[in-house]
Amino acid sequence: MTVIHKNLLDEVLDYTNRANPYPIYARMREHPILVQDDGRYIVSTYTEIRAILQDPRFSSDLRKGYSQADQRILPEHGEVSFISLDPPKHDWLRYQVMSKFTPELIYGLRSRTEEIVKELLDARRNENRLDIVDDFAYPLPVTIICELLGVPREDEPRFHIWAEHIVRGLDPGSHSKAEIEQQARQARNELNQYMGELINSIQKQPHPGLLSAMLHDTTHEKHMGKEELVATSNLLLNAGHLTTVNLITNSMLTLLRHPDSFEKLRREPTIVADLVEEVLRYEQPVQLIRRTTLTDVSIAGVTIPKGAPVYLITASGNRDPLRFTDPDLFDPARPDIEHLSFGGGLHYCVGAPLARLETHIALTELARRLQAPRLVEDPPPYRESAVLRGPRHLLVNYERLLD
Ligand code: HEM
Repeated sequence: MTVIHKNLLDEVLDYTNRANPYPIYARMREHPILVQDDGRYIVSTYTEIRAILQDPRFSSDLRKGYSQADQRILPEHGEVSFISLDPPKHDWLRYQVMSKFTPELIYGLRSRTEEIVKELLDARRNENRLDIVDDFAYPLPVTIICELLGVPREDEPRFHIWAEHIVRGLDPGSHSKAEIEQQARQARNELNQYMGELINSIQKQPHPGLLSAMLHDTTHEKHMGKEELVATSNLLLNAGHLTTVNLITNSMLTLLRHPDSFEKLRREPTIVADLVEEVLRYEQPVQLIRRTTLTDVSIAGVTIPKGAPVYLITASGNRDPLRFTDPDLFDPARPDIEHLSFGGGLHYCVGAPLARLETHIALTELARRLQAPRLVEDPPPYRESAVLRGPRHLLVNYERLLD
C-alpha cells in the first residue's frame, strides 16, 4: 500500500526543526517508504536504505529521473562529478581517484594534521572561549584538503562562498526558491571556471598535490579529460571541506552533552574510534542521500515508478529501533555501530578514512587540552542546510588550555 504524506520532508527542511529533526524521522519510519503528494519518495528505515544503496535499479544520475527540479540543479556547462554518475563512467573516474587516494597517503597526513590541530589550539592559549566551528573544526579540514589537492589555501574565501551556495541548492525544496537555484547555478559555473584556471596553470608546471598527480598521471592508457578533472576536483574540494567540519563539531556538542564520555576520552584516548563511530550514527553530518529509479521497483510493499525522485534518509535509518537498541541513546560501547553515514555500495564515501583521521586527532587533543569546557549555548545556532547538518557556531568556555 502506498501511503501519501503531504509534508514530512518540508518539516525536516523547516529551520525551526534543525536542532532536533529526530521526532520527524520517527514519524517517517511508521512507513518504511512514503510518497509525498509532490511525487517524491522517502525511505527512512535502516534495512530498506541499506538494500537500496546496493541495488543497481537505483541511480545516482538524477538526469535519468523525471524531476524537473533535479535537472535544474545540475551544472549548465562541463561534466557531472562521479558522485552523480552510474557505472561504467562512475567506476572509471572513482578508480582514477582511489588509485591516488591510498591508505599510505592518508596515514601520511597524520603528523601534518597533528601540527595544524596544535597551531589552532595554541592560538587560543590566552583566551577562555573558543568557537569550535570557526576557530577549529572549519580551518582544520580546509587546510588539509587544500594541501592534499594542491589548491591555494588563500583562495578559501572565494571557493567557500560558491560551496555555500551549492549546498543551499542541495536542500530538498530549495528548488521552489528561484533565487537559491539561480545562485547555486552561478556558483557552480564560477567554481568550474576557477578550477579550470587552476588546472591550466598546473598543466604548464607540475605542482605538489593530488590534482597535479591526476593530471600528469602516465600509468593509465586513458586519461581524465580536463572537464572530468574539473568536476572531480570540485567534488573532492567541496566534500572534503563541508562535511568533516560537521563531524568534529557534532562530536564536541555530543561529548559536552555527555560529560562522562568526554572524561573517559581524556583518560583513555584509545576509545576515540568507537566514540566517533557512535557520533556518526547519532548525529550524522550528511542527513540524506538522493537516488532515482531506472525502472519500476517494488520494495516494502510499495512500487516506486521509473524515474521517481527518491530520498534515503540515512540519519533516520541510523535511529531505527528495528536495527539499533535504544537508538536515541548515545552509547559508544554499542557492539556493532554499522551506521549508514558514509553511504554504501558503489558510492561509499571516498574520504571516510580522512574524515576519521582528522576527527580522531581533533577530539583527542580537545579532550586532553581543554580544562573544564562548558557549552555556552545549548542548542547552538545551526547552519541553514538540512542535508549537511551541523552547528554554525559552537561556543565553548574553558578554564585553561593545557600545553
Ligand atoms: C564526516 C565526513 C563525511 C561524510 C559524513 C561523508 C558522507 C558521504 C556520503 C553519505 C557519501 C555517499 C553519497 C551517495 O551515495 O550519493 C559520500 C560520498 C563521497 N564522499 Fe564523503 N563524506 C565525508 C567526508 C568526505 C571527505 C573528507 C572527502 C574527500 C576528501 C569525501 C569525498 C567523497 C566522494 C568523492 C564521494 C563520492 C563517492 C562516489 O560517488 O563513488 N567525503 N560521502
